[in-house]
Amino acid sequence: MQCVTILPNLSNFASLLNTLISGQLLLCFNQTLSARRLIVNYGLASKYYDLFGSKNDVAFYKELALKHGKKALELGVGTARVAIELVRVGVTVWGIGNSKYMLNVAKEKLEREKASVRKRLILKLADMRSFRLKEKFPLIYIPSATFEHCISEKDQKKCLNCIHNTLKSKGILAFDLPKLEPEKPESSWWIDRKETGDSGEVVRTIFSRRTPKTNIVSLNFFLTFIKKAN
Ligand SMILES: C[S@@+](CC[C@H](N)C(=O)[O-])C[C@H]1O[C@@H](n2cnc3c(N)ncnc32)[C@H](O)[C@@H]1O
Repeated sequence: MQCVTILPNLSNFASLLNTLISGQLLLCFNQTLSARRLIVNYGLASKYYDLFGSKNDVAFYKELALKHGKKALELGVGTARVAIELVRVGVTVWGIGNSKYMLNVAKEKLEREKASVRKRLILKLADMRSFRLKEKFPLIYIPSATFEHCISEKDQKKCLNCIHNTLKSKGILAFDLPKLEPEKPESSWWIDRKETGDSGEVVRTIFSRRTPKTNIVSLNFFLTFIKKAN
C-alpha cells in the first residue's frame, strides 16, 4: 500500500490500514491525528448542515474523482454537500449514509438539479461499518472527518473491511481528519450564527466534551432559529 501523507502517532491506525489490500492507495487531505468523535443524531442539524458546512474540501475530492475513473463512493454522504458538486462535473457518485434526515435533505437538493445530474447520484441508507455493494469503485472518499464516527477499533476495522471489499484493485481511499490539539481543554463550547436567506438567522451552539481516557469527543448541537422583525 502506498501512503502519501504523514500520519503522526497513528500506530494503531496504521495497523488498521493493513486491512486494505496492497495496490490500493491511501490519500489524506489536511489531516493529522484527531480525537474520535461521537455525534448521535443529525435530525435537526440536517436542516442547517450546509449553512454551517463551509469547508474547503470540494476541489480536493473533485480533482481526485475526475482523475480516477469518474466514479466514486462517498461514505457518510450526509446532505450530499460534496457529492452533488462531483456529479455536476460528470462523476457518478454512490453515497451511503446512516441518517435518513441528512439523506432527505440530499434528495431535496437533488430534485433541484437537471435530470442528467440527478441520475448520476445514487443515495442509500446504510452503515459504513457493514455495507455490501456489488459495484466496485476506483475511488472511495470520506470527507468531513466522518471516519471519526467509527469510535471503536472494532468499528474502524469493520469499515475498512467494507472498503476493502468495495474498492477496485489499485483503487484509492481518500479521507480527511482534523488536527490533533492535545492541549485543547476537555470541554469547550462555541457559538456561531448564519443568515438563512428568508429574513431569519440560525444560532448554533456546540458543546464539546472529550473523555481523556478514550479520547472520544461527544458533541451536542443546539440550534435556534430567529425570525427577524420586518
Ligand atoms: C460530518 S457529516 C459529513 C457529511 C458529508 N460527507 C459532508 O462532507 O458534508 C457525517 C455524516 O456521516 C454519517 N454517518 C455517521 N456514522 C455513520 C455510519 N456508521 N455509517 C454511515 N454514515 C454515517 C452521518 O449521518 C452524517 O451524515
